Amino acid sequence: MVEELTKVFPGKRKRPDKRAVDGISFHVKRGEIFGLLGPNGAGKTTTIRMLSTMLIPTSGSAMVLGQDVTKDEVRIRRRINLVSGGERGLYYRLTGRQNLRFFSELYGIDPHIRDERIDRLLELVDLKESADLRVEDYSRGMKQRIHIARALVNDPEVLFLDEPTLGLDPEIARDIRALIRRMADQGTTILLTTHYMFEAEELCDRIAIISNGKLVAQGNALELKDSVNNATVIHVETRDDPFEAVDVLEDTEGVIHVNYDRVPGRFITRIQVEQSSDLLGDVNEVMRGLRVLRIGYDEPTLEDTYITLVSANEH
Ligand SMILES: Nc1ncnc2c1ncn2[C@@H]1O[C@H](COP(=O)(O)OP(=O)(O)O)[C@@H](O)[C@H]1O
Ligand SMILES: [Mg+2]
Repeated sequence: MVEELTKVFPGKRKRPDKRAVDGISFHVKRGEIFGLLGPNGAGKTTTIRMLSTMLIPTSGSAMVLGQDVTKDEVRIRRRINLVSGGERGLYYRLTGRQNLRFFSELYGIDPHIRDERIDRLLELVDLKESADLRVEDYSRGMKQRIHIARALVNDPEVLFLDEPTLGLDPEIARDIRALIRRMADQGTTILLTTHYMFEAEELCDRIAIISNGKLVAQGNALELKDSVNNATVIHVETRDDPFEAVDVLEDTEGVIHVNYDRVPGRFITRIQVEQSSDLLGDVNEVMRGLRVLRIGYDEPTLEDTYITLVSANEH
């Protein structure tokens, strides 16, 4: 339960204060996978650090498992855990199993249940065979999996995952997503951050989109799409770079947002327009001379929705 949560980092020297998180509110239900989705610098990590009692909020309140993050941090910490991207936090000279033993001891886990739990965790993250190799000899994907196992030694009721697939190869990222699913199936509540729309769509029961420290939308994937439902998309593929046409379209009445991407051999422009507008002819006109390969209406994807919501907040 997060209410009007805010974090202001004081500016150094003459720099202004930074409102990294600016009055966000949301509620995560027990047992769900909740996604905080937003571009770099949106305030995702700052939010997760406040919720995991690593950082004190400037104002607002956050309750985790019924306890206040500013008052009951000791009690909360016993019942949660956190995996943040790119951290070390493991002893690379020790084996996977030795690391899990070490962190279990830090949490004061009863030795009777410890070894059995460690075996179960090694199985969960698919590292049983490599349990007795040093972590320094693990591949990237194995390291990320042992990081996750380390975060499970205290059997947390809530697990915070900050960009759990950042920088991983696509196949390894897919394994990690499958692992996140398995943890959720076993009853762990998961709050994860990501800047990948598809990852949030694939994994999360509900998603909150944040941009510039503000929450711009929340709901499940369908609800998010509906929230900008008065839009439809004109999809155009051209051989030539459409940057000038994009400028013209952005100033055209009825156009909500335009974005374009270069893909091998062509450019894809997606123009979100108001549903009632009839702009296909106008778009055709503006794009003429750019060697148009394909043009037509398309359904908005969640990616379109995300881009619309985030860019609307940036202006
Ligand atoms: N310790 C800090 N001091 C000052 N500014 C910070 C600090 N940590 C983060 N910020 C700023 O707060 C904003 C949000 O950062 P962050 O929460 O890391 O975003 P995200 O995880 O979504 O990429 C960024 O503009 C970042 O530069
Ligand atoms: Mg971050």
